[in-house]
Amino acid sequence: MDKEPRLLGVIGHPIQHSLSPDMHNAVFKKLNLNCSYSAYDVTSEKLESFLEECIEKRFGGLNVTTPHKVDVIKYLDSVDENARRINAVNTIKFNEKIKIGYNTDGVGCINALREEGEKIKGKRILVLGAGGAARAITFQCALEGAEIIISNRTRENAINLSKEIREKLGRRVLVVNYSEKSIKDIMPQTDILINTTTVGMHPKANRSPITADTLRKEVTVMDIVYNPVETLLLKTAKRKGCKTIDGVGMLAHQGAESLKIWLNLKAPVDEMKKTVLEKLKAR
Ligand SMILES: NC(=O)c1ccc[n+]([C@@H]2O[C@H](COP(=O)([O-])OP(=O)(O)OC[C@H]3O[C@@H](n4cnc5c(N)ncnc54)[C@H](OP(=O)(O)O)[C@@H]3O)[C@@H](O)[C@H]2O)c1
Repeated sequence: MDKEPRLLGVIGHPIQHSLSPDMHNAVFKKLNLNCSYSAYDVTSEKLESFLEECIEKRFGGLNVTTPHKVDVIKYLDSVDENARRINAVNTIKFNEKIKIGYNTDGVGCINALREEGEKIKGKRILVLGAGGAARAITFQCALEGAEIIISNRTRENAINLSKEIREKLGRRVLVVNYSEKSIKDIMPQTDILINTTTVGMHPKANRSPITADTLRKEVTVMDIVYNPVETLLLKTAKRKGCKTIDGVGMLAHQGAESLKIWLNLKAPVDEMKKTVLEKLKAR
């Protein structure tokens, strides 16, 4: 008789548009693994009891998305050094009754950049945004020896993030105003630009955080927004002659890192990307 499947999933609120179930279940099918991954709509009030339920049902692990990445920490038994530094968890592993938190967003972004031939060490990386994803990406890039520049609509959030990186990693981070002029002024000192703001995301896909005039063709432009796959920023950058990297690679790589944590598995990243692209096309 077949053993019960290993239960995995993602929690968030709302969650119905998550691509993670398709992406992970495609891996299980391809590798013939007896695992099952579902999306669970969990409100903040139900977060603690849902985690207890997962223990009772012997879940292997969970991904965590908006709005629980920070709040979930107080319900965990331990949090690895990386997630502790970022102060956000996107992956939980259940070890019997012990709940351990991790964050795979930063490593996922760096693996996606490396896959496209980018080096991180010594590079000057301009990050637009200072939200959850920006935190994971800036900390990881700084850890790996990049020079970080942050530009965010709410300047105070950029300043706070830069202070945290300096305090925790001893690395200086430059903050520039979120204006076309300030971003254009810093462009000659930028090797890679990463958009981590929500600007350009479906359904407001006709927006871009910056114009073509601000860019310079020697800069690699990555947008972590993956819906649409080719954002207006990426279209603009491509026309300018920049190398562009979309957000699907990061999505697949952060998922692959979660699978490594739960199942000690080297995930087929290309299969994950293919599944995401198919699902986005069908929407
Ligand atoms: N590819 C992947 O694997 C991956 C992983 C994680 C996230 N993402 C995507 O990354 C994006 C950000 O996610 P997150 O979790 O970091 O969100 P978040 O924590 O809510 O941060 C949102 C960021 O966008 C900025 N922002 C929002 N509206 C803006 C506007 N109209 N103009 C300028 N800036 C604006 C915010 O600036 P303020 O500080 O001024 O509010 C903040 O910096 C989302 O599109 C998400 O889907 C992709």
